[in-house]
Amino acid sequence: MLISKTTVNSRTMDKNQELKNRREASKLGGGEKRIERQHSQGKLTARERVTLVMDEGSFNEIGQFVEHRSTSFGLEKNKIPGDGVVTGFGTIHGRLIYIFSQDFTVLGGSLSETHAAKICRVMDLAMQNGAPLIGLNDSGGARIQEGVVSLAGYADIFYRNTRASGVIPQLSVIMGPCAGGAVYSPALTDFTIMVEDTSYMFVTGPNVVKTVTHEEVTSEELGGAKTHAEKSGVNHFIAGNDIEALKKVRDLVTFMPQNCNELAPSPTMWDFKTSKIESIKNILPENNQMPYDIRKVIEATIDDNSFREVHEDFAKSIVVGFARIEGRSIGVVANQPNSMAGVLDIDSSRKAARFVRFCDAFNIPLLVFEDVPGFLPGTDQEWRGIITNGAKLLYAFAEATVPRITVITRKAYGGAFDVMNSKSIGSDLNFAWPTAEIAVMGAKGAAEIIFKREIKAAENPEEKWLEKEQEYAEMFANPYRAAERGIIDDVILPEETRAKVIAGFKMLENKAETLPKKKHGNIPL
Ligand code: HXC
Repeated sequence: MLISKTTVNSRTMDKNQELKNRREASKLGGGEKRIERQHSQGKLTARERVTLVMDEGSFNEIGQFVEHRSTSFGLEKNKIPGDGVVTGFGTIHGRLIYIFSQDFTVLGGSLSETHAAKICRVMDLAMQNGAPLIGLNDSGGARIQEGVVSLAGYADIFYRNTRASGVIPQLSVIMGPCAGGAVYSPALTDFTIMVEDTSYMFVTGPNVVKTVTHEEVTSEELGGAKTHAEKSGVNHFIAGNDIEALKKVRDLVTFMPQNCNELAPSPTMWDFKTSKIESIKNILPENNQMPYDIRKVIEATIDDNSFREVHEDFAKSIVVGFARIEGRSIGVVANQPNSMAGVLDIDSSRKAARFVRFCDAFNIPLLVFEDVPGFLPGTDQEWRGIITNGAKLLYAFAEATVPRITVITRKAYGGAFDVMNSKSIGSDLNFAWPTAEIAVMGAKGAAEIIFKREIKAAENPEEKWLEKEQEYAEMFANPYRAAERGIIDDVILPEETRAKVIAGFKMLENKAETLPKKKHGNIPL
């Protein structure tokens, strides 16, 4: 039988049309009604989110036609191509990125065996090709109809999150519900961004909470963006809406390398207002007991508008975040005298420790500003383990091999002095301002202990105490005892800070330090 050219062409056209139709069907996800519902809640669809976060036209989808294989509870009649998750790769600012974006319009974005396999596929590709992974989470959790295979699917993802940790940056954006085991994948990644009012994370929801503990709590109170940003520290960044969250992702990745073997991109252009060199002189108050905002010191040192604070609302006595100095990405860790005098407590120690470890894993040099009166005393802290938690920060700094510089602006007391990137735990260059006080403790407390008998025996104990306090302060409330011993490398004027830090990081550019051979360390968890 002869087949005419026209017949062949029309068959090809039919097949092409079929592909186009299939693509369109997949793009519709759970259908227009559910898309409308998604929009009416102020949420974008999975595909709209991918389009917004990636460079225009750069997204390549993988697995668009994957369908689930379940036949339970009538699911065989409810198959939607893509199975509730959009996966693939593209670029952000021209750099390769892998992504998955859960589609709530398809069975509530629930995770089936095949949905999990699609996510695992992009995770494997991200690892093999050394590029960041971004997860846009919007899911009702394990697909209830599928039972244990969906639970195993979660575990497949957790396993990969863990194996990828420290190899490629992993960012999670929570853009809808995230309950049950679903919260553990984001928790295993490096940073979490939650959208206000439309996202929440909890292991068990308000109903279970009510049954078990009789507490009445809303989803928002239990696990909303603010709750996790302020109380638990699970959330690193709050975004007002989906668009803001995706913009944050695009911005954050610019501070990170593609993987642990590379350096973060370094823009060759940057701004630095020279007026900041003058303004840094006037930040510290005359009275050394008065608070000030350490962010002003950070801002006056780094490139203009380059600070991206991480965990802004959590454990406020320490400030951490990414910044740039002459275009180069750095991590900043700074005690915050404006909050509880900058004391180190359980939360501030683990907040800073996690950030230090991220920076070290991804070759981001560390700049530390120190003004710390010590660890927070009290039964609450001791019983909840300030010892183990404080040790986390000590361990994180001691293990870090990236270039490290410390600037002591004022107090550096006691164990906290050791912990805050001291030279003895491997810091490369430590500076102190003339206002630095480097001692075992504050002069008042020190005088009370070491001159106890003299104070008690004195005619006027108060006067004696003050005299001894001054004596101790003269001896130690300055940076020179430490400088004499080489415990700090130099005493610098505040206005010299930026120049010294730039010169220091340049000098350390080729630093190559390796840890002793081991399977892995045992950080005090
Ligand atoms: C299958 C699900 C689903 C799920 C939602 N849907 N969750 N389908 N499995 N887990 C479906 C709904 O049937 C509905 O389908 C559609 O998604 C939208 O859900 P709604 O309930 O209408 O939406 P909403 O009112 O916004 O409520 C969203 C929700 C709620 C809060 C997420 O759906 C919910 O509570 N779902 C169950 C959450 C849960 O318990 N998941 C299991 C967690 S345990 P139609 O067809 O009507 O559109 C877990 C274990 C993992 O995840 C362990 C790993 C270690």
